[in-house]
Amino acid sequence: MNKEITVKQARNRATQLIKEINHHNYFYYSLDNPVISDNEYDILFKELKDIESQFLELISPDSPTQRIGAAPLKAFGTIIHKEPMLSLDNCMTDEDLRSFVVRVKKALNGLDICSFIVEPKMDGLAVELNYQNGAFINGSTRGDGVTGEDITMNLRTIYAIPLLIPVENVKSMPGPPMTLDVRGEVYIPIRTFEKINKQRVKDGFDAFANPRNTAAGSLRQLDPEITARRGLNFVCYGIANSKSLGLETQWDVMQLLKTWGLPVNPLSAICKDIDEIIEYYNEISSIRNELDYEIDGIVIKLNSLEAQSISGTTSRAPRWALAYKFPPARVFTKINKIVVQVGRTGILTPIAEMEPVEVGGVIVKRATLHNYDEVMRKDIRQGDTVIVQRAGDVIPAIVGPVLEKRPVNTIIFKMPGSCPVCGAGIVREAGEAAHRCNNPACPAQLKESLKHFVSRKAMNIDGIGEAVIDQLIEKNIIKDPSDLYHLDSEKLLGLERMGEKSVENLMNAIEKSRHVNAHSFLFALGIRHLGEKGARLLIEKFYDFNKIRTASFDTLMKIDGIGPEIAGSVVDFFSARDNIRMVDTFLSSGINLLYPYSAVKNKNSLSGMKVVLTGTLTNMARQDAKEIILNLGGEIMNSVSKNTDIVIYGQNSGSKLKKARDLGIRLMDENEFFDMAGAENL
Ligand code: IVH
Repeated sequence: MNKEITVKQARNRATQLIKEINHHNYFYYSLDNPVISDNEYDILFKELKDIESQFLELISPDSPTQRIGAAPLKAFGTIIHKEPMLSLDNCMTDEDLRSFVVRVKKALNGLDICSFIVEPKMDGLAVELNYQNGAFINGSTRGDGVTGEDITMNLRTIYAIPLLIPVENVKSMPGPPMTLDVRGEVYIPIRTFEKINKQRVKDGFDAFANPRNTAAGSLRQLDPEITARRGLNFVCYGIANSKSLGLETQWDVMQLLKTWGLPVNPLSAICKDIDEIIEYYNEISSIRNELDYEIDGIVIKLNSLEAQSISGTTSRAPRWALAYKFPPARVFTKINKIVVQVGRTGILTPIAEMEPVEVGGVIVKRATLHNYDEVMRKDIRQGDTVIVQRAGDVIPAIVGPVLEKRPVNTIIFKMPGSCPVCGAGIVREAGEAAHRCNNPACPAQLKESLKHFVSRKAMNIDGIGEAVIDQLIEKNIIKDPSDLYHLDSEKLLGLERMGEKSVENLMNAIEKSRHVNAHSFLFALGIRHLGEKGARLLIEKFYDFNKIRTASFDTLMKIDGIGPEIAGSVVDFFSARDNIRMVDTFLSSGINLLYPYSAVKNKNSLSGMKVVLTGTLTNMARQDAKEIILNLGGEIMNSVSKNTDIVIYGQNSGSKLKKARDLGIRLMDENEFFDMAGAENL
């Protein structure tokens, strides 16, 4: 910024920047629909910070720079709600809903004002935001409904909460009244929650249990800086004294709040009768798992404000509203047995087999307990009653045991002393959470490896289900996945439930899989920690499977996206004698690795050009180089002439290179070619 600017200029610019940044905050946090990039946003933010650091007198309380940075508190103060924050009555069935509708209709005594506003019931924390002449002055938790905790500083860190509602907002709409008490829910978006947990686990902390508790804990931090880092969000569902706005319906109130920049739920709707409410309930229930926040039902409210006041409230909850809850996402059940499963890489995983229960709409009877340490940490035992939870779309997990319900004489869980499948020894490497079977020929490992090998994202071999795999292993027909390419149809015909047609289909599927994308093959090998994405990355960078086989740890580590875990296990995998033999067998049994150069970044960079290849390429097979050229839009010529556009040369290039030089044709060595194709030459 120019240091010479006047206070007046700075003020104008700061006002403009605040307006602009707040506008973008609204699009980003409230509408989840950013209109500028993070980088552009950061530039605006920095400019504002720079102005404010030069002209301290210009720092306005509604400046987005003032959200964070308040000093930690010793304790929260209290705030008395002008109007009590009530609770909601719940129901779980259509029948209960019907009684509610009948009840409110009766209270309205035939008045024609019985329609409903419906919206998702957010599973977060109720808060109240107090605005004075459009400025956010303080905010509080629900507390006991009458008195809440003053969490103003923490609420200020939430970008979805406007610090200032412009008094003259939109020309045709009225501005906010002198006092406005907004009610709504603070929550953590599921994506943010998962990100926080990933980081916590990486940093060696326990993962948070669920988004709601995390939001609650974050909101009640005495240090607002911690709150700011948790990425909380806010959605509003009403105001304390709706009638004060002079509007007729809750819907109109919400529309006005929206024009004031307060985030309202875009899924709100109006229903005229019970059938429409049930339809809405089913619809929300069906998209529940796609939402980026947790909900535990829908809320139904009389839309007419007059109808609301006729219905009135009890001391606990309004009579004009009802929560229709979804079946719980947290349930109790009993663990019948803890079994130990052996995975593809030999890892032993304790699995809880439970009495089947429905949780968040799915039936659950098995859940992973991850590893020994996790079982110990939660102290989960066979015979325990446990809490099973399903958050968002994630796999149901066991939260922990209900100790009061633990039967006497339960036994503390122990890992088996030997592999439950093959009886070989169990090892646990230093620093590893997992126990593993140290027999690479363990049938359980082989079975899982084979299942992985044939799976869709790997070799994509159809017609080889679990039952066939079991028999192939049992009958010793397959000792490692490469044996799949030497199968004898006679032997297959001898297997149970394998008729001629299914054998033929299977043989065809195996045959087809010989032509496979290099990354799918690499992934199919089942190298520990190397997922499909990682395999793709390696192939894109190396363009040559054989180079990956011989790559060093350091070389692999240079790749963005490859960490020490993957690099280490790739090197380990390709140095084990059995694996070398298996991979050699694959490659010599006619597996043809394809390099899908759609992955090449600089598509069309050779578009229309006549290209000659000469000399020995060291980084890739000649055929592969040709494919790349074709995929980049080039045309391959055998000899150099004045019509040649580019000559790509390798080692020991002879007369063609000389001729190209003489004719002044553009030359490119192998590395430049790699760079151009978007592959890194390692
Ligand atoms: S309306 C008088 N609407 O549910 C209370 N509440 O179980 C009117 N909640 O404390 C509340 N989503 O925190 C309303 N769309 C929504 C809601 C909602 C979540 C919470 C609210 C309330 C709790 C009661």
